[in-house]
Amino acid sequence: MLNEIWEKIDSEVELNKQELCYILSLEDPEKLEILYQKADKIRKKYVGDEVHLRGLIEFSNYCRNNCLYCGIRRDNKKVRRYRMEIDEIFETVSLASRLGYKTVVLQSGEDMYYTLDKLTELIKRIKNDMDIAITLSIGERSYEEYEKLYEAGADRYLMRFETSNPELYAKLHPDSSFENRINILKWLKQIGYQTGSGVMIGLPGQTIEDLAEDILMFKKLDLDMIGVGPYICHPDTPLAGNPGGTAEMTLKVIALTRIVTKNTHIPATTALATLRPEDGREKALMAGANVIMPNVTPLKYREHYTLYPNKICINESALQCNSCIKRRIYSIGRVIGTDYGHSLKKRENG
Ligand code: 5AD
Ligand code: FES
Repeated sequence: MLNEIWEKIDSEVELNKQELCYILSLEDPEKLEILYQKADKIRKKYVGDEVHLRGLIEFSNYCRNNCLYCGIRRDNKKVRRYRMEIDEIFETVSLASRLGYKTVVLQSGEDMYYTLDKLTELIKRIKNDMDIAITLSIGERSYEEYEKLYEAGADRYLMRFETSNPELYAKLHPDSSFENRINILKWLKQIGYQTGSGVMIGLPGQTIEDLAEDILMFKKLDLDMIGVGPYICHPDTPLAGNPGGTAEMTLKVIALTRIVTKNTHIPATTALATLRPEDGREKALMAGANVIMPNVTPLKYREHYTLYPNKICINESALQCNSCIKRRIYSIGRVIGTDYGHSLKKRENG
């Protein structure tokens, strides 16, 4: 079975669910090394050696939702909530631009304090003043809002579907439905956004079959960007005490995601680097990933954006994260992307 799968990967024949499950169950380090090398080869062929940097600004940790896994869920009263004002976000984007980032990711909880008017003002100001791509990651909004934000100048949107198992999705998300989430991803693409999604690895009750379906779903949705990170258990949530995902399983899913989706952007996530601070980023970059999102959130807010505990870079400045990440990229013989790192997929609308 294994040799057959290796051959299929080498000749770029699509893998079926059973084959994905077989690979996801592998544990022998030598076999996993082969998997990572195959993913790395496909990464090199389709997206090259450039690693694209996206400056991440976590501008508000207020959230109207109560997702069971998330540290900034509405019912977690231990979180000190903060919001950055539009001017402060703008200044932070300007810092990201000065650090050389050609993309900023504006991320927050689902915080309706940021009205359509406020957000369009911000996006227009950024686009007027700076040569930088804007990615939004602010959760579920209306079709009309997505459309207006796109017209204002937002280029991309990130929203993970978290798991492709609708029952598991329903258990974890009291305020949102799987069906709606997938619909929104379709809207975003239709409007013209370069669209990113992704999942967490190691959610309670999640099976290998679920992970195989996640990977097939990435392909089916024809996503531009795919974020895969381990679920890390937060003690102040209803899921307290769960083991969470492993770095190894996360790397297997990253590698298979590259093998299956070929020309997508795949980040080496902060959650993976949190599990493996020494080499998590490097390992991901060598198993299919080609993007890193260095944190540029002002230091005073960082410790409060705790989706999960022990998050890295709580005490490092934007400049420190910048040099840390560059050093890691160069150490494995890769280069920093100098362009926007737009989607590599050709579409009629852009
Ligand atoms: N562990 C890992 N990732 C998490 N996220 C939220 N909570 C956690 C957690 N406890 C991820 C979700 C979300 C993204 C912004 O952060 O996948 O989409
Ligand atoms: Fe922040 Fe390494 S990325 S310190």
